[in-house]
Amino acid sequence: MRLFLDTADIDDIRRGMKLGVITGVTTNPSLLSKAKHVDYKSAIIEICSIVGGPVSAEALSQEAGAMVEEARDLSSWSPHVVVKIPCTAQGMEAISILSKEGIATNLTLCFSLNQAILGAQAGATYISPFVGRLDDIGHDGMELVSDIVDMLDYYDLSTRVIAASIRHPMHCVAAVKAGAHIATVPYGVLMQMVEHPLTTQGIARFLEDWQRLAKD
Ligand code: E4P
Repeated sequence: MRLFLDTADIDDIRRGMKLGVITGVTTNPSLLSKAKHVDYKSAIIEICSIVGGPVSAEALSQEAGAMVEEARDLSSWSPHVVVKIPCTAQGMEAISILSKEGIATNLTLCFSLNQAILGAQAGATYISPFVGRLDDIGHDGMELVSDIVDMLDYYDLSTRVIAASIRHPMHCVAAVKAGAHIATVPYGVLMQMVEHPLTTQGIARFLEDWQRLAKD
């Protein structure tokens, strides 16, 4: 399973990239607003130059024709841009046009297998089931990830699944078990994935023992 960072925070992206385990980034309007980016275009271009891999940037239009125009513009900013399109009828129409033009898309705000089937048929490059938001309302978000992966495998479709709306490290473990191709994680969750109290304790004990030997 590949890992993307789910953030628009430039410092977090730089820090995360240094680990050598991040291959892409997903952003959305809320994340751009949280990171206080006033210039959408320059923020996305900067993120693309740091990441050098797929960077999802959301189209804000609601009507298919306008989404297509916006997506063409977004994708002209960098070859790394993947255009996020929401799971609506207008969105499906836009994705089916964009896929024929070779513009990479990420079907976002996906909450059902039906939406995923339609997105894959329309030619979405990625589909993002929002696991945490489904869990929040008492559904099993990871079961949806698993169902989408099975459906894509069964029909031999090339769309890749991004487990999104990841809230904690156990979501990442479950995403691996569900067969997600990618998980997009906040920087804090990435750090939680690295850390383990027994690793910290183990390092401290090794150092103590080594220093004791030096004193003997
Ligand atoms: C994914 O592409 C979205 O940016 C993100 O995962 C949404 O997560 P949230 O539900 O924590 O806002």
